[in-house]
Order: sequence, then C-alpha cells, then structure tokens
Amino acid sequence: MQTPFGHFELQRLPLRRRETLQAWDAADEYLLQHHAAQRRGDVSPLLLNDNFGALAINLARQQPVSWGDSATAHAATAYNLKLNALSEKSVLCVPSTQVPALQGVTDVLIRVPKNLALFEQQLRQLRPLLAAQAQVTAAGMVKHLPHGAKPLMEQILGPCQLSRAEKKARLIHCVAEQGGQHIEALPDRLCEVSEWDIQLSNQVNVFAHDKLDIGARFFLEQFHHLPAAQRIVDLGCGSGVLGIAAQKQQPHAAVTFIDESYMAVASAKKNYQINIGDGDSVRFIADHQLPACRGSAFKPTCRPEGRPTPTLPDLILCNPPFHQGNTISEHIARGMIQQSHQALAQGGELWLVFNRHLSYPSLLKRLFGGFETIAQNKKFIVTRAVKR
Ligand SMILES: C[S@@+](CC[C@H](N)C(=O)[O-])C[C@H]1O[C@@H](n2cnc3c(N)ncnc32)[C@H](O)[C@@H]1O
Repeated sequence: MQTPFGHFELQRLPLRRRETLQAWDAADEYLLQHHAAQRRGDVSPLLLNDNFGALAINLARQQPVSWGDSATAHAATAYNLKLNALSEKSVLCVPSTQVPALQGVTDVLIRVPKNLALFEQQLRQLRPLLAAQAQVTAAGMVKHLPHGAKPLMEQILGPCQLSRAEKKARLIHCVAEQGGQHIEALPDRLCEVSEWDIQLSNQVNVFAHDKLDIGARFFLEQFHHLPAAQRIVDLGCGSGVLGIAAQKQQPHAAVTFIDESYMAVASAKKNYQINIGDGDSVRFIADHQLPACRGSAFKPTCRPEGRPTPTLPDLILCNPPFHQGNTISEHIARGMIQQSHQALAQGGELWLVFNRHLSYPSLLKRLFGGFETIAQNKKFIVTRAVKR
C-alpha cells in the first residue's frame, strides 16, 4: 500500500495461499490522504473499525488507538505491524466492549460499519471522549456507505460535509461541536426462544439482533439427535443460543463459546449467566481461531465426579458466517470447517447448519472422509461429520 505515510505490505486474515482480495481499499487510501493533507502528523489519532490494520499501520508512528468489534481486525493489525517491522506496542487495540481510556481526542478516523446500530453506539460512546473542534472523518466505499451514516453523525456530533467520490469512496467530515456531553448507550436487543425457554439479551452488533436466525432455529430442532459430549464448542457463537441449548441438554458438558466479535462473546457470556448461571467449566473466547489451531490446546477441567474431560473438543456446533465485513465469501466458513477438523478429538463430531446451495459437502467429504445429513428443508441442511 502506497500512501503519504510510506509503503507498507498488508495481509488479510485469515491467511490464504492464493489470496485474491486486498487488505485495504480506496476508502482507506482516501481517509489517509485526507489525514495527511490536514498536516496533523504529530497527534495520536483514534481509529474505529480499521479492517485489517491499514490505517493503524500507516499511522503507527503516531501511536494510534484502534477501537472496534472485530478480533480478526485486531489480530490482522498485530500481524501487519510485524510484517512491516513495526513494534506491536505502537498501536493500542481496544475491543468495542470497552471505552478507550482517552479524553480530549482531537482526531478520529472511522471506517463506517455496515451495521448502522453499531455505528450509532460507537458515535454515542465517542462523543464524550472528544475535544471541542475535534476532527472526525468517516469513510466508506460508496456502494457500502449506509444512507443513514451522515444524518447519524450530524445528530450526535454536529454538522457534516460529504466529500466528492474518489475511486468510488467517500468521506464524511465533521468538526465536532463540543465534547464532554454524555449520551446514553443503546440498550441490548431482547429475544425469547420459547421452545427452549431461553432469553437472549444481545449487544447491537450481534448476529440476528433481536430474532432467532432461521438457520439456527432449524439446527435447534435437530438437537435431540446430538451425541453426548464432554467438551462442546459453539463456534461463531453470536448470542450463544446454540451452546446454551446444548448446555441445557447436557448439563455436565464443558462448553466453550468462540466468536470474532467482542460484542457477541460478551452477549453470549451474559446470556449464559441469564439462562444457566455461573459455570466452572464454561469459557468465552473472542478470537478468529480455535485455540487448538494456534497451538494452545483446550485447558483440561474436572467434571463434578472428578473425571478429567478430554483437552480437545468432542463436539463442535457451528452456524457459519457467509461474509467477512462487506465481502460475501465462503472462505471464513471453509476455514472454520478446516479448523474444526484440526481441533476435534479423534471420534469427535462437527455439526453444521448451512444454506443448501453452499459447497461445504465436498470439503466435509475431503477432510472427514464423508458426512451424514441429519435433516434438510428447502433452504438449510444440517450435517454431522466425524473425525476418524
Ligand atoms: C451466522 S452467525 C451465527 C451466530 C449464532 N451461532 C447463531 O446461530 O445465531 C456466524 C457468527 O460467526 C462469527 N464469526 C465470523 N467469523 C468468525 C471467525 N473467524 N471465528 C469465529 N467466529 C466468527 C460472526 O461474528 C457471527 O456471530
């Protein structure tokens, strides 16, 4: 990536052998050009929703804070800092579930997320951190920039200007009217899954928001077929509804909830407490990789009767995503299937729900040597694959 700040190598995560997608886009370039033109090279900026660290790597010398909801983005920032021989300490990554400990922020660079409720929550939390006359610039590709983004910024921060489009990207620029004013955070979205007597309270960026996804509903309908397991993983847990239902069915199993969204993991934790209570052997992990796939095996725990559970999962439940940010792609789901195969104990099972038109059956066959169809309807299929 060539910008006024230098030349940098950038990679997307997860790494792929033949990557066809860039780790940055014209909106990142436009934002960085605008920032350079402001000649504010010595201030430490606050970055929101930096996708793969493109903004943070360019501005690393100014020690930025990178705030957002994606653990993948933060892992990519760390990876790309290393790739460019920059110190990992030069960027402070703050998850969306925390508010950065900053005051009097003068420069904010934002990639507008596709979820407008997340954007609103971020602007509400940002507002009290700003200095008077703070420069806030948001960017997006024209086709992805939600219409409501500028009105939201105007409502929360002050008058905004929309830039002309450059390479199909646009900026929304705002000089914040005044800082310090507290605005309430948006409340969680509530959802009831009456068939399972589960109440969900989800933060604004959790998949399916205040509804139960129809794929998840179809998956839950098949849960009476699940094998008894000792160590269950809810991979891509979102609200945690699958893992919570499995825990209700199998109270002695140790359940691990994993998602790359910090808000999803925090919501799964809250939902577990609401529906199950506190558990000794339950774990919540914000990561884009299963622990076994990064070399750190699952920690052994003791079951009530003292028998140690296996360190590797023997059941993985997954309703995989079909996009990464604005990019619709199967590669994240395919990666999750590969990781599941790698992480499972011998004889362990991967249970998946997915849209019937997707190409996962051939991958399941190649990795697991076959799979069983548990149920299918017009839209979805639920499969079971056993690690031999
Ligand atoms: C289709 S949603 C399913 C959510 C929930 N399990 C359900 O059934 O309602 C997919 C979830 O995968 C998460 N996700 C995306 N990429 C991921 C990754 N690399 N590792 C873990 N989770 C990921 C998303 O944040 C999202 O919550």
